[in-house]
Amino acid sequence: MAISTTVEQYVAQHANSELAAVFAAIATAAVSIERAIRLAGLSDIYGAYGAVNVQGEQQQKLDVFANDELIAELGKVPSVAAIVSEEDEAPVAFDRVDGRFAVIFDPLDGSSNIDVNVNVGTIFSIAAVSGDVVTSVLKPGTAQVAAGYVVYGPSCVLVLTLGKGVAAFTLDDEGEFILTSDNMTMPAQGPYYSANEANAASWPQVYRDYLGTLVDKKLNGQAYSARYIGSLVADFHRTLLKGGVFLYPATEKQPQGKLRLLYEARPLAMIAEQAGGGAVNGATRILDLPAEGIHDRTALIVGSKAEVDALQSAVAGAK
Ligand code: AHG
Ligand code: MN
Ligand code: MN
Repeated sequence: MAISTTVEQYVAQHANSELAAVFAAIATAAVSIERAIRLAGLSDIYGAYGAVNVQGEQQQKLDVFANDELIAELGKVPSVAAIVSEEDEAPVAFDRVDGRFAVIFDPLDGSSNIDVNVNVGTIFSIAAVSGDVVTSVLKPGTAQVAAGYVVYGPSCVLVLTLGKGVAAFTLDDEGEFILTSDNMTMPAQGPYYSANEANAASWPQVYRDYLGTLVDKKLNGQAYSARYIGSLVADFHRTLLKGGVFLYPATEKQPQGKLRLLYEARPLAMIAEQAGGGAVNGATRILDLPAEGIHDRTALIVGSKAEVDALQSAVAGAK
């Protein structure tokens, strides 16, 4: 019987006990969020919360529940100085003398899928804090200490990187996330592209042309299938395991892009690159993009090296 390694043990071995305590808090919150999602039909936790968040979006009850759980658990960790959440306009600072980390998260990603029993997730990034919290978290994505996500699906899986490769942990019956994959690598090219093609009419032309080359098998002769779940975390997890590309270009409605730089694009970009893939906003590497504000939005193209490199050179050539 192989010895099972929990996520806290893995982080303590590969980093330090302070960071392990942060992951332990995230894991505890995730166990509670997973249970709330699984039993949502039996409690009154589906549907809208009745408030609009800083994004101007209707908050779902589970968005608020997940946010509260993460803040409660992370608030108990001495090394966590502050959190930044999709659901809160400003950072939540814990008055700590020895706070070293800020945890930046999307507490529940894919909210539109909650009520139809489709995978949703939690996405998080961990930044080092020195002095001002906002200044610390606005540093480029290359400064991230760690990143990860939890995908709540047929099984509940936590994926992380500490900057030394990508590992995955599966939630067991005792409420522990057990190491199930280490040194994960994304296929160099994949069989899937993932995009909301209903927006194609308002994409910059170069993206419509790019999708056409994939459909016409013009990228190394690869034939593609379309897969679009509408939960970034699930579309990304499939891309990490199977390969291919997820793209959410800018649209007329959202010329800056829809997805959030600090707590959607950057953590997934770090994981993608650590697994041998890539992530750009079109022309620029996501991890190099500067941030002006904690809720900045960006276009996101993330996935296997072949598809992301092909897109980036198409955009460069279109200039
Ligand atoms: P969130 O639920 O945190 O607001 O994120 C939703 C995001 C992301 O999960 C997904 O990829 C995207 O919205 C789907 O957008 P469209 O419905 O416009 O395709
Ligand atoms: Mn999201
Ligand atoms: Mn969300």
